Amino acid sequence: MTELKWWQKAVFYQIYPRSFADGNGDGIGDFAGMIAKLDYLQDLGVDALWLSPHFPSPQFDVGYDVADYVGVEPEYGTLDEFKRFLDGAHARGMRVVLDLVLNHTSDQHSWFKESRRSRTDPKRDWYVWRPAASGTDGPPNNWQSAFGGSAWELDPTTGEYYYHFFFKEQPDLNWRNPEVKQALWDATRFWLDLGVDGYRLDAIGTIYEAPEMPNHSVTEDLSAVRRTLSPYSGASEADRATARQIYENLFEHQHDRPEVHDLMKELRRVIDEYNDRVLIGETDDVTFYGTGDDELHLNFNFPLINTNHLTPAWIRDNQTERLGLLPDGAWPCNTLGNHDRSRFLTQFGRNDPIQDAGLARVWLALMLTLKGTPFLYNGEEIGMTDWLLTDLADFRDNVGVWLAGRVAAETALSPAEIVHLAATNSRDRCRTPMQWTAGPNAGFSPEGVRTWLPVNPNAGDGVNVATQQADGHSLLSFYKRMLRFRRSTPALIAGDYEAMLPDHADVLAFVRRSAADAQACLVVLNISEKPQTLALGAVAEAATCLFSTGHVEGAVDTLADLALAPFEVYVGSVPA
Ligand code: GLC
Repeated sequence: MTELKWWQKAVFYQIYPRSFADGNGDGIGDFAGMIAKLDYLQDLGVDALWLSPHFPSPQFDVGYDVADYVGVEPEYGTLDEFKRFLDGAHARGMRVVLDLVLNHTSDQHSWFKESRRSRTDPKRDWYVWRPAASGTDGPPNNWQSAFGGSAWELDPTTGEYYYHFFFKEQPDLNWRNPEVKQALWDATRFWLDLGVDGYRLDAIGTIYEAPEMPNHSVTEDLSAVRRTLSPYSGASEADRATARQIYENLFEHQHDRPEVHDLMKELRRVIDEYNDRVLIGETDDVTFYGTGDDELHLNFNFPLINTNHLTPAWIRDNQTERLGLLPDGAWPCNTLGNHDRSRFLTQFGRNDPIQDAGLARVWLALMLTLKGTPFLYNGEEIGMTDWLLTDLADFRDNVGVWLAGRVAAETALSPAEIVHLAATNSRDRCRTPMQWTAGPNAGFSPEGVRTWLPVNPNAGDGVNVATQQADGHSLLSFYKRMLRFRRSTPALIAGDYEAMLPDHADVLAFVRRSAADAQACLVVLNISEKPQTLALGAVAEAATCLFSTGHVEGAVDTLADLALAPFEVYVGSVPA
């Protein structure tokens, strides 16, 4: 195969530690659980694991509020257990990347506790402190927090405001202070020294703010914007696009500052002190690739999923635009979801079990055949869907809690309607415990234990690992089969991308061709419940079927009139 880096060939799998597997029976996922599931992950056929934050944290934002960058959250285990997990993954041929939260710490981090003690504390300048706006007691400007309310919190001890892009429990670090850089680069090296294979960089665009801190000029309200953007809102694509633009304008001075690129180059140099590690940006901004080889290795193609209608036309346009934007040498990176978004079967499904079973296979095929590194999210391999909480007391995502409060204050909805609206916006919907069995607590925790978030009851209807492992036709079996197929098909990994059937409403077709591997694959995905007959003679006279949910593998198929079943996935080999 073409010489590629491991992270270009790998399929990544995101583990949300709190919800993956509960090893000690306290209702919370942990390293003991993760260690016990390493064989499962190896058998699934993924190549790399990304762990959402596992550091000590008050869990106000489920670990994205770090209280110590070089420790392990006691609820999850010990550093020794972490090492056993890492070694166990490596021994099974899987890499491990961690989540690096650079923008902010927890307000319980000792650095912040020191910083807030006095205006002259040596750690004062590690965070972003400002006096009240001149002549007032109010905040320095009108900036908002992405999680609601002012981005400024008055700290009574010293009478100054500190800045927080996210919750007030997540004060922003001052990256213009060299001591901050040093401390975070030390933490970065700590885990690299232990052997981790790289980092996913949390909210990386939010590191710097405009130094002159001008007011934004947006009048629309954030909670309304958030509600429009929810996949449940029923808003049109046009309204969504408008809401996204308002969001952009609202935060225009608070993210994606040019200075961040020098910082990313510096971080890249830290990473490059080590052999073959990777940096993955939680951003869709392609400027984070730098020249293609001097900033982040991968940045997510989120625009692909910024829609409720993942149609062939949307995907084709996305690919043309995205691949066109990437600098030379940059490698694409695709995902259909993560711990912040709706589960893709909910967002892109059709609310029909038969159709969704077909669609789930099509979406995996999309991830494994598009050009770029795919990221999967734990639970998607068994078809997990969003679970909407019905009791505010069960909410763990404080974004949902905040929204419930806003909706209650602003609307005349009934309590049940308020909870429903908040639940559709709360990220709890996609963070429920992994469903391992059809038994009590879906086998995540022992019977009788109260899990940290309720378990989705569809675990009892076949949406669980044990049931699907025993069924050769299950979604899980399909994931295993297709992951193995991708691994052994170089054109799907290294090949370039050429779109076919540019106007087809229901079918996505493209060719992945790798001259170096002397292999070309025609990929055809029927994203519809209708059978199709396709004129693909322009690609080649015939294809040898390599992988399909409708055709016989190994048979030769004439391409002038290729017939596809509803939701069929077809990959055929054509002359290179
Ligand atoms: C990222 C994380 C999200 C978190 C936020 C603040 O967007 O993915 O879960 O709440 O950053 O750290």
